[in-house]
Amino acid sequence: MAQPVKIAPAKGKLGILLPGMGAVATTFVAGVELVRKGKSQPVGSLTQLGTIRLGKRTDGRTPQINKFVPLANLKDLVFGGWDIFKDNAYQAAANAGVLEHRDLEAVKPFMSKIKPMTAAFDPKFVRLLDGPNVKKGKTKYELALQIKDDIANFKKTSGADRLVACWCGSTESFLKPGAVHATPKSFEDGMKKNHPDISPSMLYAWACVTSGVPYANGSPNLSVDIPAIEKLAHDNNVAIAGKDFKTGQTLMKTVLAPAFKARMLGLDGWFSTNILGNRDGEVLEDPGSFKTKEESKLGVLEHILQPDLYPQLYGKMHHKVRINYYPPRGDNKEGWDAIDIFGWLGYPMQIKVDFLCRDSILAAPIVLDLVLFLDLAQRAGMRGIQEWLSFYFKSPMTAKGLYPEHDLFIQSMKLKNTLRWMVGEDLITHLGREYYD
Ligand SMILES: NC(=O)c1ccc[n+]([C@@H]2O[C@H](COP(=O)([O-])OP(=O)(O)OC[C@H]3O[C@@H](n4cnc5c(N)ncnc54)[C@H](O)[C@@H]3O)[C@@H](O)[C@H]2O)c1
Repeated sequence: MAQPVKIAPAKGKLGILLPGMGAVATTFVAGVELVRKGKSQPVGSLTQLGTIRLGKRTDGRTPQINKFVPLANLKDLVFGGWDIFKDNAYQAAANAGVLEHRDLEAVKPFMSKIKPMTAAFDPKFVRLLDGPNVKKGKTKYELALQIKDDIANFKKTSGADRLVACWCGSTESFLKPGAVHATPKSFEDGMKKNHPDISPSMLYAWACVTSGVPYANGSPNLSVDIPAIEKLAHDNNVAIAGKDFKTGQTLMKTVLAPAFKARMLGLDGWFSTNILGNRDGEVLEDPGSFKTKEESKLGVLEHILQPDLYPQLYGKMHHKVRINYYPPRGDNKEGWDAIDIFGWLGYPMQIKVDFLCRDSILAAPIVLDLVLFLDLAQRAGMRGIQEWLSFYFKSPMTAKGLYPEHDLFIQSMKLKNTLRWMVGEDLITHLGREYYD
């Protein structure tokens, strides 16, 4: 067995900071409270329900993950956040319309007390939204400093010992990394000069990382994944992760595509449509925000199927993604995939996947797992990009020069092996020769 990593205990309260308190964030907070009250189950959460096999299959050692590694206990979580609307978490959840009346009423007093702090917002980045609960400041730097003050105040007033943040705000317009994002210095100068390529989500990421707060990015925005903030995370010993929660359609894609590749089945094309009617869908009507989402969704197949290695199977595939805002569906998205594959001698076949999913119900447990695992990583001294959390993202962040691993099963193995490594247990290779010697 290897040496375990030194992990500081999870003592005291863990403050969860949520920039963006819309459908996903409020479904997450309400869900944690319902689970704490014993009124519901944390379905979809690996940290709460998952187990991990240790040693040989014959050893019979399969502890619960939350007993195996020292994660924060749900009862120790406290919540805060920012939004451009003044609604408290109860009102925001009611507007989002994800949870049923009986569930929301059961947590009304708790949710009503969570009031959003004023947001750093710029309608240029989210064209179809505007709200009154916003910060004022002459420069982006001033706004970022105000966020740092908010973080410090929240820590004091909530009595939290440690903090962790997860961006649950809207998808911002598409941005490419440029010179202003290259170094901590260029980024700080850029904020002071109101550089147009610095988005609000980057201000939150900068404020958190420079305050020592681990940060996960749940949307596809260019945000914590710029060299300037990656360097700051490294230098300040802060854990970061991103980006874009892998919830519905992409989850299915990263399950099916590895199966096709494992069996050497070919792919002519994959047409993905989405119909959704929540605020996220409304924001994605704007071509700038859609482009950010599209890029995030499109990368997956190329990386899993490796057309350069298998040109005869995947060299000519067509991959299209469409998102349509369709109000009658609300948060209940329909993700419809038409998949054209081919088999032996090139004979074509079709697969249709029609996933009638619930976006925020799928995303909420991901937020929970991410904040708990990021807090764990932070206490274990694992600074910078946490690639082992790729499991949760559509566009996983990696070290420079590495391609992202999208295959859900490789991601799951990497996550669990990282937990084994932290505790000093043997990694599992699935070789199993010893049973046949
Ligand atoms: N639900 C899913 O399945 C899923 C999957 C992947 C990614 N996401 C991403 O998660 C994010 C949240 O999704 P949602 O359904 O909760 O959306 P939502 O529109 O319900 O909530 C987003 C909230 O962010 C707020 N906001 C926007 N800009 C802000 C700013 N600068 N500061 C503070 N608040 C700001 C909005 O006012 C809104 O209340 C989106 O970016 C979405 O693309 C969701």
